[in-house]
Amino acid sequence: MIRKLLLIGVVALLAAFWTRQAFVAEPTDAAQASAFQQTQPVGTSGSSGAKPGSFDAEITRNAQQMIDEGRKTFRFDTFGDEAFWGGQLRLHQAIAGEKFGGVGAGLSPAKALELGLKVDSEMVPAQVASGIKAGTVDLNDPANTLALLKVDAVIGVKAFMEPNGNIRSIGIQCALCHSTVDDSFAPGIGRRLDGWPNRDLNVGAIVALAPNLKPFSDLLGVDTATVTKVLTGWGPGRYDAELDKDGKAFGPNGRNASTVLPPAFGLAGMNLHTYAGWGSVPYWNAYVATTQMHGKGTFFDPRLKDANKFPVAAKHGFDNIRNTPDLITPKLAALHFYQLSIPAPKPPAGSFDEAAASRGEKVFMGAAKCSTCHVPPLFSGPGWPMHSAKEIGIDDFQSARSPDQMYRTTPLRGLFTREKGGFYHDGRFKTLDQVVEHYQKVLAVTLNDEQKRDLVQYLKSL
Ligand code: HEC
Ligand code: HEC
Repeated sequence: MIRKLLLIGVVALLAAFWTRQAFVAEPTDAAQASAFQQTQPVGTSGSSGAKPGSFDAEITRNAQQMIDEGRKTFRFDTFGDEAFWGGQLRLHQAIAGEKFGGVGAGLSPAKALELGLKVDSEMVPAQVASGIKAGTVDLNDPANTLALLKVDAVIGVKAFMEPNGNIRSIGIQCALCHSTVDDSFAPGIGRRLDGWPNRDLNVGAIVALAPNLKPFSDLLGVDTATVTKVLTGWGPGRYDAELDKDGKAFGPNGRNASTVLPPAFGLAGMNLHTYAGWGSVPYWNAYVATTQMHGKGTFFDPRLKDANKFPVAAKHGFDNIRNTPDLITPKLAALHFYQLSIPAPKPPAGSFDEAAASRGEKVFMGAAKCSTCHVPPLFSGPGWPMHSAKEIGIDDFQSARSPDQMYRTTPLRGLFTREKGGFYHDGRFKTLDQVVEHYQKVLAVTLNDEQKRDLVQYLKSL
């Protein structure tokens, strides 16, 4: 009995000691701290166990700082791209409208939401928020778009204001395409969801609002009517990140050459990014920030000198872009780190049948052969995850536009965030059932109806 009590006492003491060590960042009692370190096996102390002043503590501090800086860059940095979106395209003038020093009718909040722009509810002043709820804020008045822009509430869009409240210029941020909101306040208005693709966002229609599309028509060597046609042809949740390299606006059967916006979550552990595996995350971040957002930075990739494959890039020297000052390169490390920290979100409870999903897991790993390429838990290929168009049974239009001419195995976690807009790089499969049907043919596997249903439930559970 006494031995039992003693044992309980020791366990309780140890537990108290552990809790204290785990939650008190700086141990006040040096003797206790050193005793703790002696009894803890190497590698189990966790981040809060790092001894202050040690290199372990430095790593932890650095990691936190990288996340903080990277988040700020991802959400708020324009990299000086307002010189393009405002300075050259004058997009801000179309948003403001004639009444506020711009041109045309202006962009009302209702229209902005319709174009898929999202509003960060945490940035909306309380008074405006209650006005929206009460219906006293006129969502058809562009003045209210300006008010939201002024407080940085429109995700991915940064307005630069004049002292008189008019808008002077506008820039865009990574979050524009790779974030959405949880709709907790109203449809299109809520808390940020970084990394989730905005499959409502009509990038092309927004860009086409700009009064001056000449920079695109000069670049591509077509008239502005053609530029407008291409931009407005993309539709919601889509963008073409290679058009300014190869000038190819249309794919097979005259279909537009855009891809669906991919997530920027769940990428840690992955080699090669984008649908056609152009490079690593920092490679692509530099590519996008300089050549797509038109920020001021440095980017070079000699592969773009290939005038057959990338005629526009080769002509305009996009293989070697240099700007002084460089507003991008100093931010690449933290931006990379932040993106790798964004987990793939879990599907909402009740959005799939758990029993069917667990049966479907066996189909995925076995009969359907999915895990030969989508290796869990990454659900992409460890190593070089690239496959020919033929291997996955589709045309090679998009893969042929990339340096390696192949498709990268898409990581499958968080699939539920991209049901809207469809699956595969161009969203050609509207449902997961269609994806499974497609693979049956390509991989020459035969699944019965129940296996197919279970497999789809498993995909929904990822
Ligand atoms: C105008 C919309 C848009 C903006 C703004 C944008 N992206 Fe993207 N992003 C895309 C599209 C489209 C792709 C897919 C390109 C492809 O496969 O050809 C992509 C791909 C990516 C990928 C690869 C995802 C994967 O599955 O491998 C990453 C990472 C990424 N973007 C990060 C960023 C960062 C960081 C920024 C800001 C510097 C940014 N993007 C700005 C549209 C955008
Ligand atoms: C030969 C390798 C390979 C096999 C086997 C394979 N996949 Fe894929 N998977 C890919 C590639 C490559 C892509 C990217 C295709 C694209 O974007 O056009 C992809 C894309 C997908 C997507 C679309 C993801 C998105 O967000 O667009 C789904 C879903 C998917 N695969 C599920 C499966 C299932 C289910 C199986 C088994 C029946 C399977 N895959 C077997 C290589 C493979």
